[in-house]
Amino acid sequence: MAEKKKKAAAKKEVAKKVLKKTATKTSKKTKGEEKPKKKKRIPQTVRGMKDILPQDGKLWRHMRAVADSITNAYNFEFVETPIVEEALLFSRTIGRSTDIVSKEMYAFEDKDGSKLALRPEGTASIVRSYLNNGMLTLPQPVSMWYYGPMFRHERPQSGRYRQFHQFGCEIIGNKDAVADAQLIVMGYNFYKDLQIETNVLINSIGTPDDRERYIVELVGYLRSKRSYLSEESRKKISKNPLRILDSKDPQDQEVVAEAPQIIDWLSEKSKTYFMKVLEYLDELDIPYVLKPTLVRGLDYYTDTVFEFVDANNTVKGLGSLGGGGRYNLLIEQLGGEPTPASGMAVGLDRVALILKKKIEKGEFTPDTGKLKLYFAHLGEPAKRRALYLIEELRRAGIAVNHHLGKPSLKAQLEQANKAEVSHALILGQKEMQDDTIIIRDMSSGIQEMVDQKKIVREIEKLQKNM
Ligand code: HAM
Repeated sequence: MAEKKKKAAAKKEVAKKVLKKTATKTSKKTKGEEKPKKKKRIPQTVRGMKDILPQDGKLWRHMRAVADSITNAYNFEFVETPIVEEALLFSRTIGRSTDIVSKEMYAFEDKDGSKLALRPEGTASIVRSYLNNGMLTLPQPVSMWYYGPMFRHERPQSGRYRQFHQFGCEIIGNKDAVADAQLIVMGYNFYKDLQIETNVLINSIGTPDDRERYIVELVGYLRSKRSYLSEESRKKISKNPLRILDSKDPQDQEVVAEAPQIIDWLSEKSKTYFMKVLEYLDELDIPYVLKPTLVRGLDYYTDTVFEFVDANNTVKGLGSLGGGGRYNLLIEQLGGEPTPASGMAVGLDRVALILKKKIEKGEFTPDTGKLKLYFAHLGEPAKRRALYLIEELRRAGIAVNHHLGKPSLKAQLEQANKAEVSHALILGQKEMQDDTIIIRDMSSGIQEMVDQKKIVREIEKLQKNM
């Protein structure tokens, strides 16, 4: 009995303590001494990665439109491959000892232990897709283009990001030198259409046999100049001597200027092939600069290699705006039949930096088509009709800017001005009664009244005449 009482008393004691604790807690709160709320940290973008913001939206759409129109003109099909691939795909193609694979690849283990990577470039994925999807059975060559983000864990600086964007074109199954020339023309014209003048730097690195013989000579030379080279380049002498050729270090550049040139080690076949590429470029009136030290940072190239640089150096220290070359052995290396191929890719973020600078200076206006429309309405019935007509125009592929909230007609026309549209479609009460609509030329102020039923035809007519 005494034991029971003791236990009950102990329980009461515990209950009292608990109650006391809660009481002090609540009393603290009610006294208004509540700790100041800790401000939540807003998550930030990851280092080297950035948002493309609304103010740059037009510019990015413009670049996409130019890529679209160029690839269309050259009959390339659009493809999209996954951003995540087996890490092996890149180490076997770009090369294990390249900076891209050994230092910069976003490689990680998946939940099941498989080794994956965020794609550092597009070519390897396109070739994998060509093989996986039996594209060898399609009429050759297969010409494909792509557009999207790539990932490299580089030290970020202006024009160098960890997530960046490329527009790329690959021709698989054409061994003719004309394919290389055509890819160079496509790149050159992409920049030209965006009013960027580029220099095409070009070289040939021949076949692996040519390269092997050349590397023996190059390593001999570099060893003899070892003490003049930068620390970084000294490490590369035995690992990847070709990469020393495009070192940015002024100390290295002096040594490289005197180095043996790969062009002198090319087989007759590779030399003749290279001459053909140059002849086609002459034929196409594309200016180029022979750059004997150009070797590129990816191991899969054979014969032609090229890069595009901004001829006016609009943004200092930007590096290449794009690059590419032939990769005749890559498909075989991945397990396919020997298939010749070549390609190129444009670095869109660098192009965007140049265009932004040009926009600031008033030298460039991103334009997504000459005809630009704004639909202005007055009153509820006109708003309903506007909904219908905008949809009809959209079905005909005609985009119309509008604000179907409650702004006044004046406010809508001000918005049209701000959006720098070429024409405003105005639907007021009178037009509603007559089933007509006004088309107003925003620069001349000239207005035309047309039948609502004929709106699509009238706009198409305008489009043709612009
Ligand atoms: P790449 O030279 O490594 O070639 O890249 C092409 C372009 O992408 C560069 O010229 C540069 O403009 C841009 N780029 C590269 N890394 C970055 C970065 N970290 N930040 C911003 N832009 C960058 C290739 O990727 C090959 N797949 C090209 C190719 C296609 N070869 C044959 N077919």
